[in-house]
Amino acid sequence: MRVLTIIPTYNELESLPKTLGRLRTAVPGSDVLVVDDNSPDGTGQLADRLAAEDSQVHVLHRAGKAGLGAAYIAGFKWGLDAGYDILVEMDADGSHQPEQLPQLLEAVEQGADLAMGSRWVPGGSVVNWPLYRQAISRVGSTYARIMLGVKIKDVTGGFRAFRRSTLEKLNLDTVDSVGYGFQVDLAWRVAKLGLTIVERPITFVERELGASKMSGNIVVEAMINVTKWGLTARWNTLTGKLPRNKVTDRFTGKSTSTKA
Ligand code: GDD
Ligand code: MN
Repeated sequence: MRVLTIIPTYNELESLPKTLGRLRTAVPGSDVLVVDDNSPDGTGQLADRLAAEDSQVHVLHRAGKAGLGAAYIAGFKWGLDAGYDILVEMDADGSHQPEQLPQLLEAVEQGADLAMGSRWVPGGSVVNWPLYRQAISRVGSTYARIMLGVKIKDVTGGFRAFRRSTLEKLNLDTVDSVGYGFQVDLAWRVAKLGLTIVERPITFVERELGASKMSGNIVVEAMINVTKWGLTARWNTLTGKLPRNKVTDRFTGKSTSTKA
């Protein structure tokens, strides 16, 4: 299967070459698309130089900072147009270990529609995060899991492999959430379609170089959206807007047809 790993960047001058180098060594078969939002520190020009040396590396330049979600959507469209079979999301800052990507790819090759790297399943972990941040992430994920009725343990995680056909079903043009909310939005869309989602343990290492782009607003956006989506789903079930012969198992996200 042809694999494209998409790496969004905004001011990742120091981190990008390291991450890219590790990725090319760990998974030499994967092509790479760097999606840069005109980083003021020159990450985009650096990416161009790296791409000139390596025919498997590509760069998509965008006009300005428009958020992680918009960068991924542009990257997905580029990759779908180019015919890739598996499209991967991976951060530039070293938080996601390229050496663990083969486990996600294997899950998709074995049939998963979406393979998610997870910090909160047995074997998963977080390095260099203070306890309070681990607590926020776990509480946020648990809230989303209960509110949305999905089984996913690490619903905000950003290290993922999508089967091509999964992305084709998601109506990417209607996704406008950013940051953590974007990741939850995509997972929720996949779950609602009843597709197969698997989680694989990963080691998330907090960045050592550069600065995070996530803000309090982004966390609040995610919480508000999760609440809205969860309540809408319950309302639709209550008012019978879901087709009568369709039972949605809230705990797997799978839709099963029941013939009358
Ligand atoms: N092109 C582009 N545009 N890239 C961006 C933008 C943007 O506006 N904002 C962030 N990025 C890139 C960063 O350069 C980095 O490569 C990646 O997106 C993640 O950004 P961070 O700022 O490092 O995010 P984080 O570490 O707080 O969040 C990570 O963990 C979250 C879950 O805990 C990401 O993986 C999130 O997707 C995830 O929800
Ligand atoms: Mn990060």
